[in-house]
Amino acid sequence: MKPFPKSPIAYLWLYAMKNKKIFLPLAICGILSVVLEKMSPYLFSQMVALFGEESKFADIENKIWFLLTGMVLATVFAKVLSNIFHYLSAVRFRATVYKQMSLDCFRYINGHSVSYFADNMAGSLAQKSEQLAGNASFYSALFYYLSDIVQLIVIFVMLMSVNIMFACAFMGFLLLSILVLFRIGKLSINLRSAMVEAKNKVSGQMIDTLQNNFFVRVFNGFDYEKKRLHKELLSESKITNKSVNVEALQSQGEKLYFQIIYILFLFYGFYLWKIGQIKAADMVLIFLLLQNVSDTVSYLIHRGIIYSGVFAEMRTNLIPFSQPHEIEDAVNASPLQVKQGNIEFRHVNFGYHKNRLLFKNFNLTIPAGQKVGIVGASGGGKSSLINLLQRFFDVSSGEILIDGQNIKAVTQDSLHQAISYVPQTSSLLERSIAENIAYGRVGATLTEVKKAAKDAYAAEFIEALPNGYKTLLNAQNQLSGGQMQRLSIARALLKDAPILVLDEATSALDSESEFYIQKAIEKMLQGKTVIAVAHRLSTLKNMDRIIVLEKGKIAEDGTLEELLNCKGKFYQYWTLQKLEGAKHE
Ligand SMILES: Nc1ncnc2c1ncn2[C@@H]1O[C@H](COP(=O)(O)OP(=O)(O)OP(=O)(O)O)[C@@H](O)[C@H]1O
Ligand SMILES: [Mg+2]
Repeated sequence: MKPFPKSPIAYLWLYAMKNKKIFLPLAICGILSVVLEKMSPYLFSQMVALFGEESKFADIENKIWFLLTGMVLATVFAKVLSNIFHYLSAVRFRATVYKQMSLDCFRYINGHSVSYFADNMAGSLAQKSEQLAGNASFYSALFYYLSDIVQLIVIFVMLMSVNIMFACAFMGFLLLSILVLFRIGKLSINLRSAMVEAKNKVSGQMIDTLQNNFFVRVFNGFDYEKKRLHKELLSESKITNKSVNVEALQSQGEKLYFQIIYILFLFYGFYLWKIGQIKAADMVLIFLLLQNVSDTVSYLIHRGIIYSGVFAEMRTNLIPFSQPHEIEDAVNASPLQVKQGNIEFRHVNFGYHKNRLLFKNFNLTIPAGQKVGIVGASGGGKSSLINLLQRFFDVSSGEILIDGQNIKAVTQDSLHQAISYVPQTSSLLERSIAENIAYGRVGATLTEVKKAAKDAYAAEFIEALPNGYKTLLNAQNQLSGGQMQRLSIARALLKDAPILVLDEATSALDSESEFYIQKAIEKMLQGKTVIAVAHRLSTLKNMDRIIVLEKGKIAEDGTLEELLNCKGKFYQYWTLQKLEGAKHE
């Protein structure tokens, strides 16, 4: 999917063009209704002109009827078209575009890389997406705005028919005033942007606290969070007040200014009439047209300033959607074909920060079907290694190959399809247990889900829950760490991919959970190429090979016996864990 345009106009235009079939009739109805609406004053002035002619009523009667009928028809059609316009823009167009925008935002934002989500608050991204899709209702406002511009053009054309000098002077003066007042309005636009930013900060902070409610509670952080929120709210209300005051002042000032201009131009009209350059009927037309102009123009400026604010908000909201995805499929990416499941890291260089490499010329070959346990001190790069294999991050140089295919050259979908991943921290969705397990394979039946749960030694505790597989996982229905791990394992079992990546949680488990998880892992390992970050001795016993990872380097590599015999780092971990285990028993 392509990034969204950076400019709000281009963004709105994109969806207008996607829905040409509704948009074009909409535009035509909008413009026609405005033109027809302005026909009445024109026809009325023509009538006044007829009365002014010194002829008998019988001579002009037909013309009068004709003009009156014209006025009625113009008014009726203007109303009908404006209603059609309103229905098309506010109902049909808005609903269709809102759906498209929401889905596109959702699809695009989810394409960002794992690191993007680590750096950006999910709550704030969701809010930006919601606000962007909410702009579907902004089209109507813009249409009314555009129709006012069309109105001004129609008025200009009519004034031209009266007196070219008058029309040019009036419109010239009007345009100049609009430009100057817009410049002054810039001040409030900047204030609006700052206000949007301040509002986003407030809701971002609220969402962050709510999402991490558990941690905040554990660290007694509610008072601290309240103080932080209070500070954000204070700066938000300060900037909001300033913005509202400036806008109100501008709006009142403009109205007064245009009233004065209106009166001055009426004098000018009288002057032209006095020197015989225009007729009395023209004067009537000028009077009727100019009467509404001041309202229209101050509406245009005032709304223009507000809409510039909306555009500023849109521009800010568009940023995450116009930034290209950090990790994209190659142009000619083909699906990954896994026949055996060989994995190779070849001369890999990678660091989270450009000038701090975690892996330097890292090499590792895992033949198909081999089960490799990775151990090492915290921060040694174990999770990073499996993140790279799944292309959550791209290597700076070197290659990662699966069955000889560079993972950068295959589609990410097919890569993820080929790997069953059990993450270090179990991540479960706020849905039923059955849905969470079924996530492993689209379209899995309940029988398959139950089998996976049984193989993961999770069936027993699930069935003991009052709602069984239908139990909704949320804050109220929290499972224990060990139970959540078993659900993650059931999900991976159901996926049954040829490569298994396991990032074992370090959290200590009671020996019963440990026993069941171990059994579940044993089931999962069968017939797969495995990379398991393993903290437990029981898991390591199932491995064909063990790698000790220290600061991004392979410090030791061999079978369990070989590493124990060489009495190096691994031997130290092993004996330490044995001692710990003995202490607990
Ligand atoms: N998303 C990230 N952005 C920046 N640095 C990161 C990121 N993830 C990990 N790191 C850093 O990279 C290094 C390796 O981290 P990694 O998570 O791979 O360690 P680990 O071996 O899995 O540790 P543990 O046993 O605690 O899970 C650490 O210094 C860590 O701070
Ligand atoms: Mg880790």
